[in-house]
Amino acid sequence: MSDFTYKNGQLHAEDISLLEIAKRHNTPCYIYSKKAIQTKYTEFDLAFTSNQHLICYAVKANSNISILNILAKMGSGFDIVSSGELFRVLKAGGSPDKVVFSGVGKRLDEMKFALEQNIKCFNVESKSELLKLNEIAESMKVSAPVSLRVNPDVDAKTHPYIATGLKENKFGISFELAKDIFKQAAKMSNINLIGIDCHIGSQISELSPFQDALQKLLDLIDELTKIGIQLRHVDIGGGLGITYKDEVLPTPSQYVNAITNTANGHDLEIIIEPGRSIVGNAGILLTKVEYLNETPFKNFAVVDTAMNDLIRPSLYNGWHEIKRVTQDSDAKEKTYDIVGPICETGDFVGKNRTLPLTEGDLLAIFSTGAYGFSMSSNYNSRPRAAEILVDDNQVYEIRERETQEDLINGELL
Ligand code: LLP
Repeated sequence: MSDFTYKNGQLHAEDISLLEIAKRHNTPCYIYSKKAIQTKYTEFDLAFTSNQHLICYAVKANSNISILNILAKMGSGFDIVSSGELFRVLKAGGSPDKVVFSGVGKRLDEMKFALEQNIKCFNVESKSELLKLNEIAESMKVSAPVSLRVNPDVDAKTHPYIATGLKENKFGISFELAKDIFKQAAKMSNINLIGIDCHIGSQISELSPFQDALQKLLDLIDELTKIGIQLRHVDIGGGLGITYKDEVLPTPSQYVNAITNTANGHDLEIIIEPGRSIVGNAGILLTKVEYLNETPFKNFAVVDTAMNDLIRPSLYNGWHEIKRVTQDSDAKEKTYDIVGPICETGDFVGKNRTLPLTEGDLLAIFSTGAYGFSMSSNYNSRPRAAEILVDDNQVYEIRERETQEDLINGELL
């Protein structure tokens, strides 16, 4: 959370006061620090000692094209899960030969688009998908580069909605069937088998699940090598967690060291797909207190952001630090539920927060750079928030606040 700090009693993003941003761009808005994003990416990158690695930033965490552009310029690859994300990567100047395409339900048109763009690899999740991809590639007279996503059945010890590597989860090819499907894939006319991948979940706070999953993949790679199937890369997915409150998490370099140590002795390119750990703590959501509603039972601070802008608290019980933009206040400290204007009891951004509040105060909701804007919606016909990028003492609006006209765009009477 150190990328947003108090200077002269005002919360700043790099050198810019959030108060100034609110004056110029209004609230609610997401604010990202370019330096914070670059620092995290570099930490991952420098921790690899061999050139044989590729960081494929998971676009779903934050898909604003300016954010993708920052990463593309640093040499990042991208993990995408739809042709929409591929479109964004291309618009942002990303290089298709560094794109891996994950997801359990790739449509025919999406596969075609990705084949036309010559992406690095399809992370195929089932035998049916493999057959379909082979067919499409054949009709286009091309060869599809493929990694098979296996489900290593490893417990990532995270929220059940974001655990993906257990055998009961919908993701990847079951470990028991994997070898056989690799053998079939190796024989397919228009499949070029180049890798193996997994992704065991998100907001993971320990290194051992990553190492266990990777070890399983490496064992399988060794078995495949024995039967003449030679893979070029191993992709361990994303999932490294971030500090939301006071959790102590492995750093990107500790994470990379754990992976490279496990893979030591294997001549393979290592791919990782971090999302949250690159952008999560590089963003805050700025909001204004509209009303204080104090009842005999509970105090509510109604803010101008809501679950449509940030759904993590409602959906996963996600906890985000909330701080005043102006450090000092004449108000008395009280305990509030900080809620939005949406007509749902689940519409809150923080519960039981003790703060001195006055109507009109600005608040910053921390650690919202990942899965914040990218999961936002127009529920209750609320225009989506603006997105702002701070670069030293420069401020860029990287997405305009939506207008009421935007809300009905494409609708017909
Ligand atoms: N690769 C694949 C195949 C994934 O499915 C994901 C995330 C990632 C990489 C990036 O994972 P990360 O490094 O960001 O943990 N909306 C949830 C998180 C969902 C994650 C989905 N997959 C949240 O707000 O916590």
